[in-house]
Amino acid sequence: MTGRALASAPGKVILTGEHFVVHGEPSLVMAVDLRAYVEARAGAEGFRIEAPNLGLTWSGEGDVPRPLAPIKLLMDRLLEESRSRRGLWVRVTSSIPTSAGLGSSAAVAVAAAASLCTPLGEVFIEVEIFELALEAERLVHVNPSGVDPLISTVGGVVAYRRGEGYVAVEASVKPTIIVGYTGSRRPTGAMVKRVERLRRKYPEVMAPLFHAGGHLTIEAAEALREGDLERLGELLNVNHGLLCAIGVSTRKLDKLVYAARGAGALGAKLTGAGGGGCMIALCREAEADKVARAIERSGGRALKVRMDGEGVRLEEVRRA
Ligand code: PMV
Repeated sequence: MTGRALASAPGKVILTGEHFVVHGEPSLVMAVDLRAYVEARAGAEGFRIEAPNLGLTWSGEGDVPRPLAPIKLLMDRLLEESRSRRGLWVRVTSSIPTSAGLGSSAAVAVAAAASLCTPLGEVFIEVEIFELALEAERLVHVNPSGVDPLISTVGGVVAYRRGEGYVAVEASVKPTIIVGYTGSRRPTGAMVKRVERLRRKYPEVMAPLFHAGGHLTIEAAEALREGDLERLGELLNVNHGLLCAIGVSTRKLDKLVYAARGAGALGAKLTGAGGGGCMIALCREAEADKVARAIERSGGRALKVRMDGEGVRLEEVRRA
């Protein structure tokens, strides 16, 4: 079979529980209205991956550039399964800022898995897309919890626990979130390792913090279900304190967090791995612009995001 398919998948913000989720605690995560798009063409001549946003191309020869390695792995896996060596071309475009903790690499991997399996004649099954994307994520991150590929696959808001799965959280209000980007970032793997070192060095001190991180997520999910944004905001603030305690915040992140709170945010915290990257501020709609301006005045780049209820989806399929 030859043909082409275009698939997309959303980025995400972690509302609560990053890092704690790596060690078995639950995390609350929300898909956002920024998407990665991947187009796959089967039956073309040779193999090619293009990512114009990143200024990267691999034309089938030599080493694949590192950021494109997860896509190459997915190509190899899906070609193995379809027992053929048909040519494949893949093109990636995305509106999700990269290396910011907004789930860009996972969204690309999820959209790539969905787009690649379609023209190869495979059936698109969500759980398989997630497993494939998680395998691809392992090339990029040390010990990923799976939270990023999971939310890109299923969309909406979910409470996720590694090894156990997820429950969808029916939010009774759509929260308005302002993301503040610091402009710099340490790799997720390095931050996960840093937390692991502290955990091993001070097990008695760290265990209650991790436990609190898990409990906080359960309460935050309840608050969102009930539409109690004040309670959710307070829990985000507590979560930021815990993330400071385990050493993943930075002066710049703290500055943006306090600026957002000062401008009327209901709560604010760093989101994702930390060491730079992004913070989020939960706001009432009326306060959102004021909070965004406060973040910009403090040197961050502000971006308003809304929940995206949809996970991975096929945008277009053409069979030749
Ligand atoms: O890569 P990020 O910034 O989205 O961080 C992912 C969240 C961590 O909990 C730090 C790592 C993980 O695999 O869950």
